[in-house]
Amino acid sequence: PSTQLLDGVHVTITAGPTREPIDPVRYISNHSSGKMGFALAHAAAQQGANVTLIAGPVDLATPPGVQRIDVESAQDMLDTALAQAADIFIGCAAVADYRVADVADHKMKKTANTGAPTLKLIENPDILKTIAAQTKPPMCVGFAAETRDVEAYALDKLKRKKLALIVANDVSNTAIGFNSDDNAVVVLSEDDRVVFEQQSKQMLAQQLIHHIATHYHKHFRK
Ligand code: PMT
Repeated sequence: PSTQLLDGVHVTITAGPTREPIDPVRYISNHSSGKMGFALAHAAAQQGANVTLIAGPVDLATPPGVQRIDVESAQDMLDTALAQAADIFIGCAAVADYRVADVADHKMKKTANTGAPTLKLIENPDILKTIAAQTKPPMCVGFAAETRDVEAYALDKLKRKKLALIVANDVSNTAIGFNSDDNAVVVLSEDDRVVFEQQSKQMLAQQLIHHIATHYHKHFRK
């Protein structure tokens, strides 16, 4: 097609989990596979966007036409996001909310006399909130992974993080959440609610990119 929805628009997407080290061989993480974020990157590139995909540790091929930057921890992901965010920022990554306060330099040993160790956790920076609080922020789109009161919590995140749109994802249903091939979501803005029925993450990503692009052209493009 000669004109595409996101021609000349720079879209930055985070995907996958983050990995927070405990010692050189152990970490805290979650079950995000990166499928949803990679599908969004693919769909945005198909609409002519210049796409930067910031990926946590996942086992997926880079979609065609996408610039991929691999990261590990939430702090790495934040540093990269701050350097890359431009016109539209989509936070699809399942960022660890906490990291280990004192990462051990050497592999922690199992010792008979001291018993089980206690890990002290500290809060990670909020990537989306930091990006949205910049002087000239991109249009920010968040995801909200919830297991109950999904839309109420999602709306709260929309407001607290000052986002343009939030994608509410009920992850209590294992068919549509972490590591599944399908997803079903509700996208909320301050004054709008759109339901996207269960389908493959690839198909859903195309519809979400269409929705996000429409919102961008209506409210953000100067
Ligand atoms: O990767 P898949 O296996 O395909 O699964 C997709 C998914 C379920 C991971 C995805 O659809 C999803 O819901 N991603 C968001 C997961 C999440 O961590 O949600 P949250 O409600 O905890 O976070 C809210 C938003 O803030 C998210 O956009 C998140 O990227 C962002 N965040 C959270 C914490 C933090 N420290 N920094 C952030 O930017």
